[in-house]
Amino acid sequence: MMSDSESEDSAIDVVHVVDFDSTTSLDSTVLKSVNENGRQYQDYRYILPKDEKEQERQRQGHALLYYALGDLHNCPLTNPQKVLDIGTGVGIWSTKFADKYKSAVVLGIDISYMQPQYVPPNLSYLIVDAWEFVVEEKHKGQYDFIYIGQFAGAVRDWRSFLQHVIQLLKPGGWLKWIEMGIGIHHKHHHQTEALVWWENQIRQASENLGTALDVGPYMGSFLQQAGFRETQVKEVNIPLGTPSESPHKRLALLNEAYTLSTVEPLSLRLLGSSWDMVICALVKKDIRQCIAEECQTRW
Ligand SMILES: C[S@@+](CC[C@H](N)C(=O)[O-])C[C@H]1O[C@@H](n2cnc3c(N)ncnc32)[C@H](O)[C@@H]1O
Repeated sequence: MMSDSESEDSAIDVVHVVDFDSTTSLDSTVLKSVNENGRQYQDYRYILPKDEKEQERQRQGHALLYYALGDLHNCPLTNPQKVLDIGTGVGIWSTKFADKYKSAVVLGIDISYMQPQYVPPNLSYLIVDAWEFVVEEKHKGQYDFIYIGQFAGAVRDWRSFLQHVIQLLKPGGWLKWIEMGIGIHHKHHHQTEALVWWENQIRQASENLGTALDVGPYMGSFLQQAGFRETQVKEVNIPLGTPSESPHKRLALLNEAYTLSTVEPLSLRLLGSSWDMVICALVKKDIRQCIAEECQTRW
């Protein structure tokens, strides 16, 4: 049995696969980007930036999820051999997973190049659009376990996407899919005006774009419609603001940092150029008020 310890040393090796053909330079493909609102984006396929600030936000998000859920997957995995991480981002989940399951071959895919250079020898990355990957015949029936973490906003048609994803699994394989809800839930059913308005704007704008962010309520039915059996949907409320003596204080602090850092990247591209830092600051002020009043976010 491998240890679950986070502090365990990992073997490292440079195994980095980048999907560009030999006639194209790295500069013009993987490293290309679009600058907007003072942020750097991959292109027009995805609403969130890919710059260092966003990469740091992803690290915060991983820390929050890991701490809240207590494990990398919560699935009954026995000796997984081939594992796929769709939308791997900065690759923390895939690195930890490859470290823990040393006999598994792990592949992380993403449209943006932001993965670490030094990774466990059983982990590699591929820069590719997930849609292109999932429809390819050669990937069918290959994987024991697939992980999708915070990919809402990247998919227009979840039913169809998941119908392809299920075909990548071996018989008896597992999918773990995690998404974060948009709303902040006030224990006393009271919410500040700017926050409610912002949440509705984000929900509506992402729906208008065809890439709804608030997929939580539909995840179970999407999975069943795609043909997954034994599905289990779990909703987790994470404290946002707690009394200083609370055992959940650390979780609440992680949630606070992550929630505040999410306002800007979510707003800028979705809500358009009229959205500036002043309005983001007002929303953050409301979130801080909620924190003072002990709210929760929902996953
Ligand atoms: C919010 S991040 C989540 C990263 C990581 N899974 C996590 O949970 O921290 C979403 C990631 O999906 C990637 N992405 C967006 N659209 C994609 C697509 N069509 N194909 C592959 N990756 C995509 C983005 O580049 C980004 O790194």
